[in-house]
Amino acid sequence: MANENLAKAADLLRSGKLVAIPTETVYGLAADARNPDAVARIFEVKQRPAFDPLIIHLASADEASEYVQGLGPRFQKLYAAFSPGPLTYILPKTAAVPDMVTAGHSTVALRFPNHPLTRQLLQDIEFPLAAPSANMFGRVSPVTAQHVKDQLGHKIEMILDGGPCQVGLESTIIDLSKNKLEVLRLGGLALEEIESVLGEKISAVKTSSSNPKAPGMLSAHYSPGIKLLHGNVCENLKLINPARTGSISFCQKIKGIPKPNQRVLSPRCDMREAAASLFSALRSFSKTDIDVILAEHFPEEGLGRAINDRLKRASVK
Ligand code: TXA
Ligand code: MG
Repeated sequence: MANENLAKAADLLRSGKLVAIPTETVYGLAADARNPDAVARIFEVKQRPAFDPLIIHLASADEASEYVQGLGPRFQKLYAAFSPGPLTYILPKTAAVPDMVTAGHSTVALRFPNHPLTRQLLQDIEFPLAAPSANMFGRVSPVTAQHVKDQLGHKIEMILDGGPCQVGLESTIIDLSKNKLEVLRLGGLALEEIESVLGEKISAVKTSSSNPKAPGMLSAHYSPGIKLLHGNVCENLKLINPARTGSISFCQKIKGIPKPNQRVLSPRCDMREAAASLFSALRSFSKTDIDVILAEHFPEEGLGRAINDRLKRASVK
């Protein structure tokens, strides 16, 4: 069955069609990265602004040389430690990457996803896959095939179901195109792990709507479609009617909020488990009649930083 689905996905992609693919981070909406018409369709389906560049996905670094102008020692160290996995590398691009993919930038984002189905698919096809997260622009990224179906099912040719995503947060993006190292998006690989492999301190860029360095990192993103307050839950609870309130917390229940409205992301206080549960928790409120979500501030370390980043963006109107 899996093989049949893989063969079908490969054929659709070869003929310029879109296929949603599972990765360890979130589901992607994939097209042949060398085919500008197919890539244009990604922007159309997601209603994504054309200024926001896409990541290209490859099976291994052996295939990267055609698309980037050299990898360099920092890439080699990080690749050996973390790829395949939830890390995306920004590097100077070659002419083989269409401008449509990079939104006219001279750099390209490369990722080597770690999901068995998608790794096999990337080995079977003859081209890289351009793939953003498989959600409508500005909304929460999908971590199950059903999430993709709910938003995009009627618009795309196929969803390759690879089960729930294990990491549950988008990849961490590191800019290797300049001397100064910068993380452009906190994500599924903790900044501390990258720093320990490279032996240097790295700054995480604070992007804003007016000057986004990773153009997709606008301050308002990840909208759950319901008002969200991020911060001290007990203080915020004093301001509102608890009966129509939901909560997102790390490992503790929140006194005063009805039990069915509470989402405790990891009762055993495991940050990886919390990260993997975050996006499903955000989506789960759309089927309820609550007016506001109170989200706790997570410990500002490791994946907790990426969780806070997503909650902060989800709280911007
Ligand atoms: O985990 C992930 O990275 C998922 C899976 C599907 O691989 N993909 C994903 O793609 O999150 P997307 O398009 O939702 O987010 C990609 C981010 C955007 O914020 C975009 O602006 C940034 O990567 N980006 C892409 N190319 C870039 C470039 N050349 N320079 C700076 N930022 C870039
Ligand atoms: Mg996205």
